[in-house]
Parts: sequence; structure tokens; C-alpha cells
Amino acid sequence: MNNVSSQADLQRILKEGETAVLQASNLKELDDVRVEYLGKKGKVTAVLKTLGQLSGEERKETGKVANEVRQKLESDIASKHEELTRAEVAERLATETIDITLPGREPVYGHRHLISQAIKQITDIFIGLGYKVAEGPEIELDYYNFKALNTPADHPARTLQDTFYIKKHSVQPADDDIVLRTHTSPVQIRVMKSQQPPVYIIAPGRAFRRDVADPSHTPMFHQIEGLAVDKHITFGDLKGTLEEFTRQMFGKDRKIRLRPHFFPFTEPSAEVDVSCGICSGMGCRLCGSGWLEVLGAGMVDPNVLIEVGYNPEEVSGFAFGMGVERIVSLMYGIPDIRMFYENDMRFVKQF
Ligand code: DAH
Repeated sequence: MNNVSSQADLQRILKEGETAVLQASNLKELDDVRVEYLGKKGKVTAVLKTLGQLSGEERKETGKVANEVRQKLESDIASKHEELTRAEVAERLATETIDITLPGREPVYGHRHLISQAIKQITDIFIGLGYKVAEGPEIELDYYNFKALNTPADHPARTLQDTFYIKKHSVQPADDDIVLRTHTSPVQIRVMKSQQPPVYIIAPGRAFRRDVADPSHTPMFHQIEGLAVDKHITFGDLKGTLEEFTRQMFGKDRKIRLRPHFFPFTEPSAEVDVSCGICSGMGCRLCGSGWLEVLGAGMVDPNVLIEVGYNPEEVSGFAFGMGVERIVSLMYGIPDIRMFYENDMRFVKQF
């Protein structure tokens, strides 16, 4: 190859290259052109590689032309690159425009479950009466769930509550057996052991029993425990407190009645019924007799006060425990408490 043909080649390559750059219709094609002419095995590069075969003067001249060709193509490619990039951005902006006049999609709002609403409502009533909220573990020791509540190992009341055991050491109950608490009453013990009187607490939470689900039972349910311990607390204080609660919760139309009952941890004890909202006391599938049992209550048994280190000569107290599901059924006339846990949105959304 000689000097002249090399330079002619270069001019031809330049022409072809310029046309190719001009014709590239996107960035990919443009890059292919760059590789074809300026890449390691490109056409201009190929000419540059032959320079070694030329004499000094020729090499200088041809080298100069080759460099000019390379620079020309490089700058052509650079400006074409800019042009194509601008065009691509413009096209994207045109096709991806957001129509800001479209109405937005309404987000789906959740809300508190009916049971949670009721727990808050009940708790708030007692907060209004000066009570503090307390909590305890759902997985509880036998000691707090039974024994400290005056329910010793051989006590017949234990058989009334079918207990879920997490850990049971033997057939005989032991203090450190681990249970799912069968009621919220163990919170009473935990609170009294951690502070001196006066105590005014309200303790909402879950409780568990091995009950077969039916319109008025589910193996997991909610209770709200109340406890007041102070100087000179009487049964009259208990009754007045429950009447005030009933007024605020159910309204003035509903009646309550206290029936003598037995609980190991209270003496005397009572069950408290509220007149049924569905049948107004006539008797129906939900209530049976016209009355719904919503509360267990009584005066804290002196044995319990002694167990937590209080002096029953100095202080006395009352306690109560209520079933949240039952109370909510009463308020809304819900005939089957299993509905609370079926997650049927047609039900859930009504409240
Ligand atoms: N713990 C009892 C139950 O689950 C309810 C109860 C009764 C709680 C009397 C009390 C109480 O605090 O004084 O059936």
C-alpha cells in the first residue's frame, strides 16, 4: 500500500462513515457505526495500523490525514449522539406524560375491630373514674392464674375452667406450670405485688379456655379486669361503680341485677347480669332467660390480700371481670360471638 492509495482510502472511509453516522436512527445503531470505523478492528484503525509500512515523510502525511478523519468522525458521532439522546428524551416525555387531571385512587382505610373499639370504650369509662390501665402476660404461670387467686391445686374451681397448658410438670398442678391465662384476674396479683395500696386498675386482655366454639363461646376471648384496693372499700362502692359503668356503657334503659355467686378470689361474690338488648328481657337464643351475664365481681378475698403482702385489717377491695364479646353482643344485638373472628368484611365493615 502506498501513500496515495492510503489517503484515498481514508477519504472514502470518511465519506462512508459520515453517511453511516447520518443514517443512524438510534443510539444502538450509532454505537455500531463507531465500532465499525473507530473500534479496535475498525476501518480507520486498520489504516492507522498500516502506517508502519510507509516511509517517514509519507507516514507523517498519511498519519495526519488519518488523525483528521478520526477526529472528524469522532465529532460527528458526538453531535449525533447528543441529537439522538435529545430525541429519545423528548419522545419519552411525550409518551410518558402524566395526566394530572385524572382523579386519584381513593386509598382503602382500615379501622379498629369492633372488639378493640369496645375495649377502648370500656377502658375509657374507667379511666374517667380514676383507674389506671394495667397489663399482664397471656402466657402465665399457674401460680398467678390460680394459686395466688386463692385457687389451690385441689380446688374444685380449677375443673370449671378448661386450661390450655404450655408446660405441665405432672398430673398435680404446680406453681411453675405454664398456662394460657384462663382469665385476666392474674393481672390483679401482678399489680398488687408490685405496688402498695391504693390500687385502682383496669386490665384489658385476651383469655383462653378449651371451650368448643358456639354462639356464646370461643376458645380465645377478651376480658376486662377491674380492681380497687384502698381503705374502707365496701360492697356498696362495687355496686355503685358497676351501676355507673352500666349507665355509661348501655344507657339508662338497661337494667342490671346482682346474683349471689362464688369465685375463689372474692368473698362475697356476685354475678352481674344486664337485661338483653335483643329481646328486652323476654328470652331469646342469645340470652335464654332475658338476662345476659356480663360480669363476675366481689370483695377481694382476705386470703388474696395476704398472699400479695397487704394487710386485710387495713385495706379492703373489690374486683370484677367482664367478657368483652358478651358485652358487645349485648350492645349491638349480635346473635353469635363467632362472627367477631370470621373476618367476613360484610360484618367487620358495619362497625
Ligand atoms: N375471673 C373470673 C372469670 O373469668 C371473672 C371474675 C369474677 C373476675 C370475679 C373478678 C371477680 O375480678 O372479682 O370467670
